[in-house]
Amino acid sequence: MEDIVSLCKRRGFVFQSSEIYGGVAGFYDYGPLGVELVNNLKSAWWDAMVKDHDNIYGIDGAIIQHPLLWEASGHVAGFTDPMVEDAVTHKRYRADHLAGVDTTDLKELSDLLRDKKSPDGNPISEPRYFNMMMQTWIGPVQDDAARAYLRPETAGAIYVNFLNVKDSMRAKLPFGIAQIGKAFRNEISPRDFIFRVRELEQMEMQYFIRPQMQDETYEQWREFAWKFLVDKLGIKESSLTWHEHDENERAHYAKAAHDIYFNFPQGPKELWGTHNRTDYDLSNHARVSGKDLMYVDEVGGDRFYPYVIESSVGVGRMLLAVLSDAYTKEEINGESRIVLKLKPSLAPYKVAVSPLLKNKPELISLAKDIYGQLKSEFGMVIWDDNGNIGKRYRRQDEIGTPFCVTIDFASLEDKTVTIRNRDTTKQERCSIDGLIDALREGLKQ
Ligand code: GAP
Repeated sequence: MEDIVSLCKRRGFVFQSSEIYGGVAGFYDYGPLGVELVNNLKSAWWDAMVKDHDNIYGIDGAIIQHPLLWEASGHVAGFTDPMVEDAVTHKRYRADHLAGVDTTDLKELSDLLRDKKSPDGNPISEPRYFNMMMQTWIGPVQDDAARAYLRPETAGAIYVNFLNVKDSMRAKLPFGIAQIGKAFRNEISPRDFIFRVRELEQMEMQYFIRPQMQDETYEQWREFAWKFLVDKLGIKESSLTWHEHDENERAHYAKAAHDIYFNFPQGPKELWGTHNRTDYDLSNHARVSGKDLMYVDEVGGDRFYPYVIESSVGVGRMLLAVLSDAYTKEEINGESRIVLKLKPSLAPYKVAVSPLLKNKPELISLAKDIYGQLKSEFGMVIWDDNGNIGKRYRRQDEIGTPFCVTIDFASLEDKTVTIRNRDTTKQERCSIDGLIDALREGLKQ
């Protein structure tokens, strides 16, 4: 983890937020390379989720919604339980469940739990009320009537737009609504770099189905998540495992939940959740809002609340997983190097362009010309003429740039350049005329 945190800061992926003021725990800023990687991850997810399905629609809901939404969803009540925390694993447990009683009195719970250990056999904290919802006030008066919440999950905006999307898109079951956006959780102990933060970004999709489809649809979205991580992000299958939630672990809305665990530097931990939320959300929003959120079957006219299978993953966690999986220290020809073996489609820069020497005008002029052509073709192309060529390659390896193109004296004569491959470190000559095609081919993987 230390190596990754250090690389992230040194090379502009992730910075502690407000660092010059000492930072704020649980908040991070993405730097120039981090934001590119984040955008590449988000567009890979959006392409696979929204563009590749003709029955999944995107939305971008507001962070602040009507406060009743969070009462209906169970978050206002569900996040204010008396909790204890396992001192070793930091898992939180409902204090009343652990004590086996039906009380929320902290003094009573504290007495009952005095000699109790967590389900993992570790010491636990004192019970205390904990609400993970971040609050604010709408308008000038800060009283209860003006209280609002920063959303703790993006899913809320999807449920309250179920009818709007269904009607405006003339959608029929099964269909999904997807969203990428910020969510906020007042985590007791944010930790492990960007793994557990207080301001996070989620990519979530709620798939509305007939109740009888719940089991097969659940399996379908579990498989989607696994395949996405392996095929689209290039994560090694050996870094992933399944974890099924037991009853104590499941969120208040879930009937079944499976996480994909990634082998993070701090150990195997949750990366991506698939949940069967049944008709919990739609029926509760219908009850609290008084609006009819039932689906009317086009054949037969049956009225029912669709069930929902949810697919939910955090962008920051995905970035940490991708970086940890790609981070490699290796020896090549007796020299050690750090290389980010990122899938080219995710790499912040696709190509680096270098003139062999920086004080030879003819070389610079040809190299600038090539740089301009590559930039208009691939966008994220970096110019690097600093230090010797070996150092430049190492610098690009460390940020995962798949190819370096070097323009040397032979280039002036025979109109060829060297393409150096990040993973194999092999260098090949290529004609300038064929350069764009060769790189396009290489970047396809
Ligand atoms: N809508 C369902 C939901 O929010 P969750 O398991 O609480 O379920 C889903 O969160 C995903 O969001 C997690 O699998 C994880 O990737 C990410 N996530 C949740 N809390 C996080 C936090 N505090 N910091 C970073 N990512 C978080």
